[in-house]
Amino acid sequence: MSDVEEFFDRVITVKLAEDGQAVNIIDQTLLPGTVKRINLHTKEEMWEAIKKLRVRGAPAIGVTAAYGMAVLANQIEATTFDDFYRQFKACKDYLATSRPTAVNLFWALDRMDRCCQENSDLTPYQLKQVLYDEAGLIREEDVAISRNIGQIGLKIMEKLRPEGRPIGIMTHCNAGTLATAKYGTATAPMYMALEAGWAGADMHVYCDETRPLLQGARLTSFELSNAGITTTVQCDNMASMLMKQGKIDVIFVGCDRVAANGDAANKIGTSGVAILAKHYGVPFYVCAPSSTIDFATPTGDQIPIEMRDPDEVTEMWYKERMAPEGVDAFNPAFDVTDHELITGIITEKGLAQGNYAKAFKKLGLK
Ligand code: MRU
Repeated sequence: MSDVEEFFDRVITVKLAEDGQAVNIIDQTLLPGTVKRINLHTKEEMWEAIKKLRVRGAPAIGVTAAYGMAVLANQIEATTFDDFYRQFKACKDYLATSRPTAVNLFWALDRMDRCCQENSDLTPYQLKQVLYDEAGLIREEDVAISRNIGQIGLKIMEKLRPEGRPIGIMTHCNAGTLATAKYGTATAPMYMALEAGWAGADMHVYCDETRPLLQGARLTSFELSNAGITTTVQCDNMASMLMKQGKIDVIFVGCDRVAANGDAANKIGTSGVAILAKHYGVPFYVCAPSSTIDFATPTGDQIPIEMRDPDEVTEMWYKERMAPEGVDAFNPAFDVTDHELITGIITEKGLAQGNYAKAFKKLGLK
């Protein structure tokens, strides 16, 4: 087993607990210092883990919700489908209130719901097994989707690879293994490069620290350095200097929801990186599993943006408050990058460019 595979084996972001009675996750609020797994048995524990970002990243939230629904369904005591479905739907509606932006949450909940309704002729006992299987499928599919995205991203890296020095890659937030079932989306090209025989030192990945919750510093640099990839962390406001110095050949970021016109919501600060990339002529790619594309949302203006506790900005990482008492802090969790700033959207079905609505259609996405 390669070092990276060994790492993936050790760091499985979300899985079903061995006894099937809980969702088992790495508590990402404790990383990078402590790698601790926790079990989520109740809907309240699942909701809290998503809300507090113990598990986070759009696809990982989707997988957690899917396994969560299977576990919760298994706890239902009912003799008829109607009674079973009423309780199932109440759990679904509750989990759906945990975070608003990542569409994968709703996508996974809806898929589990469909699976439940399409199997209404089964006994509750049989239905419970079918729901476990469906959640497992969602997880497996996520792994395959990441691999496809990674292969397309790797081709882009091969084209942009400079002579005589490692390719410089910038990423924002964490769209890595910790945000998905295995390879990540923005990190998938890097992991596919390792699989294809690149050395970790053939890439130099610059991770935006990603204020205020530090997903880049705490999570992306953790997983990439563990995979043996040369990794540097910089504060978000240092990205411009790196691009000006010509250190960045390509930017890969993830996304939480892509609108039908290609506008893409991702971690707060992403749109600023895209604006800088345009200024300095650096190709800027959004890596998007099709479950992240929301065709019901016409443009980025309609994407709901989660607002979080101001204390995350002023207090969370400090011994004492870093803004005067009484001063408010602005804390949106995501922003929307205008589609015109995006060089291409890498989906598992292919690379979309130009007119994104047309390009998605051409790729068979709807
Ligand atoms: O608030 P988070 O940490 O859940 O935000 C995560 C991101 O913005 C990721 O880039 C996105 O979900 C894509 S993960 C493949």
